[in-house]
Amino acid sequence: MQVTAITSRRDGRDPRVQKMNSPPLSRLTRTQVFPLTEGRVTIWWAWADEGLPEFSRLLSPQENKRLAQYRNDVLKAEFLTGAVLLRSALGRHTGLSPTEVRIARECPDCDAHHGRPRSLDAPELDVSVSHAGGRVAVAVAHGMRVGVDVESLSRVGDANSLVDAICSPLEAAHVRKHDVDRQPQVLTDIWTQKEAVLKALGTGLRIPARHLEVAIPGSAPKLHTNPDTGVRLPTGLTVRPLTACGPGYTAALATSTSPVEVRELAGEALLSG
Ligand SMILES: CC(C)(COP(=O)(O)OP(=O)(O)OC[C@H]1O[C@@H](n2cnc3c(N)ncnc32)[C@H](O)[C@@H]1OP(=O)(O)O)[C@@H](O)C(=O)NCCC(=O)NCCS
Repeated sequence: MQVTAITSRRDGRDPRVQKMNSPPLSRLTRTQVFPLTEGRVTIWWAWADEGLPEFSRLLSPQENKRLAQYRNDVLKAEFLTGAVLLRSALGRHTGLSPTEVRIARECPDCDAHHGRPRSLDAPELDVSVSHAGGRVAVAVAHGMRVGVDVESLSRVGDANSLVDAICSPLEAAHVRKHDVDRQPQVLTDIWTQKEAVLKALGTGLRIPARHLEVAIPGSAPKLHTNPDTGVRLPTGLTVRPLTACGPGYTAALATSTSPVEVRELAGEALLSG
């Protein structure tokens, strides 16, 4: 597996404060040429404050309806940035403009336009979106299922109180072997890996996180769940850390096949048109 990362430009502090110290767009890493051929994945990274309000004109009516429902400004900006980045990334890989891109979102539990996103223009491409603490990631993969997850370390305060809810018994023992200071990082690594896998499967947390085991050294991911769900892990399933999320964040990528070639790119280049 080859992973190429952009250089992160921020340090994990409040994005609204950082914006004043950000380098101008012309000094940011520009998009490299990386044709999305079979076996390749691109991860597009952005900050939620790059999703400018006027970008809502790029969204579909269903996406604008969801945008209008957010009462929390940070969550609203994260959703807007993720949706525009997804449209722009799919546009880049298909030759369509962001407004022409067609995205399905289907929820097995209700009629709302949410859930796992899917390209209606390019069935060979699979996509995944994640946002947390102002950081936004969009993964686009060719010829495989993909799941991406980013978390802000500041959200994991007391690892000990979360470990049994998130981890299998073996993983919980693995986390508790580490120094207390290190446990939040170890737990966040596990958490992002699990969410990435559950997103690649398309179930999300309909399968409880503790039923999936990703963190036992030397062992492949395992699903300990009711066999009646019919959910099986793909034999080529691979989960790996991502590096361009920046300090204060942890991120993971799951793919249904291996080997894959992964490139992490600056989404600013897409969002700036
Ligand atoms: C998938 C899930 C784990 C992500 O939660 P999270 O960590 O809070 O959020 P993230 O920012 O990392 O990911 C959000 C993205 O996951 C994607 N997503 C949602 N459901 C998904 C699923 N079942 N499979 C894969 N991806 C999914 C969407 O693209 C969403 O982005 P959007 O909100 O901008 O449209 C969580 O939403 C979940 O478990 N969903 C299933 C249960 C559910 O949706 N119940 C509602 C029934 S009405």
